[in-house]
Amino acid sequence: MRTIIEPFRIKSTEPIHLTTAEDRAAALKRAHYNVFLLDADDCCIDLLTDSGTGAMSTAQWAAMMMGDESYAGSRSWKRFQSTVQDITGFAHILPTHQGRAAEAILAETLVRPGDVVPNNSHFDTTRANIEYVGGRALNLLCPEGLSPQDQSPFKGNMDVAALKACIAEHGAGRIPFCMLTVTNNAGGGQPVSLQNIREVKDILSAHRIPLVIDACRFAENAYFIHEREDGYAGKSLPEIAAELFSHADAATMSCKKDGLSNIGGFLACNDDRWAERFRNLLILREGFPTYGGLAGRDLEGIAVGLREALELDYQVYRHATITYLSNHLTAQGIPVVQPAGGHAVFLDAGRFADHIPPSAYPGIGIVNALYLQGGVRSVEIGSVMFARKDARGRELPAPLELVRLAIPRRVYTQSHFDYLIEVTAEVWRERHRLPGHRIVWQPEFLRHFTCHFLPCGPGGDPSGS
Ligand code: F0G
Repeated sequence: MRTIIEPFRIKSTEPIHLTTAEDRAAALKRAHYNVFLLDADDCCIDLLTDSGTGAMSTAQWAAMMMGDESYAGSRSWKRFQSTVQDITGFAHILPTHQGRAAEAILAETLVRPGDVVPNNSHFDTTRANIEYVGGRALNLLCPEGLSPQDQSPFKGNMDVAALKACIAEHGAGRIPFCMLTVTNNAGGGQPVSLQNIREVKDILSAHRIPLVIDACRFAENAYFIHEREDGYAGKSLPEIAAELFSHADAATMSCKKDGLSNIGGFLACNDDRWAERFRNLLILREGFPTYGGLAGRDLEGIAVGLREALELDYQVYRHATITYLSNHLTAQGIPVVQPAGGHAVFLDAGRFADHIPPSAYPGIGIVNALYLQGGVRSVEIGSVMFARKDARGRELPAPLELVRLAIPRRVYTQSHFDYLIEVTAEVWRERHRLPGHRIVWQPEFLRHFTCHFLPCGPGGDPSGS
């Protein structure tokens, strides 16, 4: 097969600030060894997130010039609303400034203290929003999803037996809704099959529990279904997306991912009473229902971006870049979550740095080494982000220690990927010298964004600081 090329040319460029090893050591120290606290200018290849970091197309920039900034009932709103309705089929669309605003409205209106909300895997903001209003966020991922080397095609699926057990244990009355995150970001960007979505929906319907899709990466998930699920190779991505949403009662969306936009989100549902309650809170928190948290120009850019994300050529290219990175790292023996996910390559930090115990955060050792070695900014998705506390307040490690190399959409070229592969291989060769880290300051919620670390010697020996 011929090389899969980028289905676009580059019209506008942005300089990358190249740094020395000394610059990076000083910057990381100033950032308290937490890459979230670095200046972006000090990052040569920024893979912190695929969220809001993509490049827009000429069609999106042109659409933004058409933005109608009227407070109520703007043309841009109409375009946004009809596009989202066309793609998702939902009756009610509420624009928000990003995904977590939609989650907050959903949780605040529907979750009561003591309620339980199952998901294949909650993203950190989803979990935090549910817990903030007194609910419990449960992850019911299928067992394959917790096994980094397993090659199963749909490792983001929900464990349907665990869902049945959860309903039996807590009672449907305590479960205001169940969520499915497509693709499953926290577990390696792995997809959910339509068969799994149907099975989950059947179980929920029997108990009158609504299904809410966390749709951030719905187009990437649709592409996986197209490639891997029996019976879908002949369907278009918009047809697959429509089928996916047809099983849901509502959806939360961050348009910073598969909206191919730098900001934006929405909450969508079918039920009129839910919509009424969502709208009241939307006005309080975000804005009038025809713009929510967004400018008219953003509504325009998103309307175009959502359709571009569903173009097959774009998804073929997108997946080829992730697979290229994953295959080259795997060929060098570097432990990478298999198979390659939709938006990122996930290093298996537990195996990569197996001399560092979860309590000394192996992922942070790798993240910081990738930065020091080559100015690559990645993110830990492990015990810093997802550790829980037991009844005595002791920290329980996350089920997986991962480092995510999230790939911004349409931003980096093949030479950037080759550089990234070299830097990662250099860190891998010196892996036995990676230090552990300890947290010296942390906030109450979502600590990974702002906490401060200190390196503490190989293997987490605190004397090494
Ligand atoms: N759900 C999932 C699965 C996500 O990955 C994110 C964001 C959100 C919800 C929240 O959306 O950022 O627009 O408020 N994920 C980003 C990431 C931040 O880096 O994975 P948001």
